[in-house]
Amino acid sequence: MALRNVRIDGDPVLRKIAKPVTKFDEKLKMLAEDMIETMVAEDGIGLAAPQIGILKRLIVIDLYDEKGATVYVNPQIIHEEGEQFEIEGCLSVPDASGAVRRPCKVTLRAQDLEGKVFEAEGEGLLARAMCHEVDHLNGILFIDKVEEKPEEV
Ligand code: NI
Repeated sequence: MALRNVRIDGDPVLRKIAKPVTKFDEKLKMLAEDMIETMVAEDGIGLAAPQIGILKRLIVIDLYDEKGATVYVNPQIIHEEGEQFEIEGCLSVPDASGAVRRPCKVTLRAQDLEGKVFEAEGEGLLARAMCHEVDHLNGILFIDKVEEKPEEV
């Protein structure tokens, strides 16, 4: 396993569309392991492959709960409902944060590292992380979606 360099906003790789994963081999497993290791070392709750310069549709998420780190290969949001409006940040945009509207519940269809299709539901922070990481695969950063949050009364 190895730590990878996290690419920072301004790096063109963060703005490209990632390609579907077609080979479920040892190399993919090693890439996922490196992504998890890098995410944890950087104190992130999610990381998408383009953030380490790999244009593949692969994300990892870890909310540091009993579920542990999950790898989602070729993830697709197939259902979303509700709305949340919370402050977000990103390892590729250090020192920036802002409020982004996201669905409060999403269903993700993805493959595991063996290529087996599964569905995962996320609510709250997990839903937010899923949407944020899938955006990375499409060249979208959270700063593109930040809205002014009205003052709380
Ligand atoms: Ni991010």
